[in-house]
Amino acid sequence: MSDAITVPKAELHCHIEGAAPPTLVKRLAEKRGVDVSAVLNGNGKYIWSDFTTFLKAYDVASSVFRTPADYALLAETYFRMLAAEGAIYGEVFISPDHAQAAGLSYRSYVEGLAAGIERAKTDTAIEGRMIAIGVRHFGSASVERVVKEVVGNPHPLVTGFGLAGDERSGHPANFAKAFRMATEAGLGTTAHAGEFGGPDSVTAALEFLRVKRLGHGVRAIEDKDLVKRLVDEEIVLEVCPGSNIALGVYTHLRFHPVNMLRKEGVKITLNSDDPPFFGTTLGKEYSSVTETFGWSFDDQMDVTRTAIEAAFCDEPTRTRLLVRLESARQVPTG
Ligand code: ADE
Ligand code: ZN
Repeated sequence: MSDAITVPKAELHCHIEGAAPPTLVKRLAEKRGVDVSAVLNGNGKYIWSDFTTFLKAYDVASSVFRTPADYALLAETYFRMLAAEGAIYGEVFISPDHAQAAGLSYRSYVEGLAAGIERAKTDTAIEGRMIAIGVRHFGSASVERVVKEVVGNPHPLVTGFGLAGDERSGHPANFAKAFRMATEAGLGTTAHAGEFGGPDSVTAALEFLRVKRLGHGVRAIEDKDLVKRLVDEEIVLEVCPGSNIALGVYTHLRFHPVNMLRKEGVKITLNSDDPPFFGTTLGKEYSSVTETFGWSFDDQMDVTRTAIEAAFCDEPTRTRLLVRLESARQVPTG
């Protein structure tokens, strides 16, 4: 178990609104007079029963964040928590659509979040970046509006663009233009695929969006040729085992393909997705996968290395993070 504490960690896939602690959501809801009782129970747990109701609960929880200061507090809280679990780097998905629905401009949203990330960094040395996402089930016009906003208002900590939301709605071809614009602007790109969609959904994301990283991607395991393609093209999977189990994609971690994909040579990383919704944290993801599949200290170090190598950050930052990662090898683990 000491390994799980000492291995430096890095996260590439966490939705900032989905990381909101229930206590914070409740406090802000009371302050703003928002009724969140349909999505938050008396024991401080989010209420949802499937992917559709999860997305609804996520929308309601997001609606209590209304000012840059609210978002600063959310980001600071999350990054401090990550650092406390041994993380040295985190990327969070940010959703300009959710901010807009709460009455906040893109710039205010990003400035608030950036202030929180910087505050956490000052105290803990954790590095953070943001990936702006379009919501797939809001349609291509909405996703293109997000990318235009991001490209028109560059921020040094917004380094990526992604597609989240309901994978069962809308073909990736509809979002090809948005991804082309993001890529041409120099943003890293990633898309959710292979979570609720099967291998065809993964292939379409690769073909039409030209991404080198995939959110989840795990259902690629159902197609041997696709697994080979992921290996050959060095596609990095942002794997979120706890999320997949909570949402019923797999029944138990033992049956989750994360270890099999890794053994086949696919580049995988570990991530928490929407941690309090799914009863997880980044630290828990590392420790549960380590225990279930008998991973060593070096296996975990490899996973963090993969994440840092695939991170949407500048090269000097990547080099510093790799040095910090390697320095953990000198620390006795027992
Ligand atoms: N938005 C927040 N969490 C998500 C998930 N697991 N899949 C797709 N969209 C999401
Ligand atoms: Zn996700």
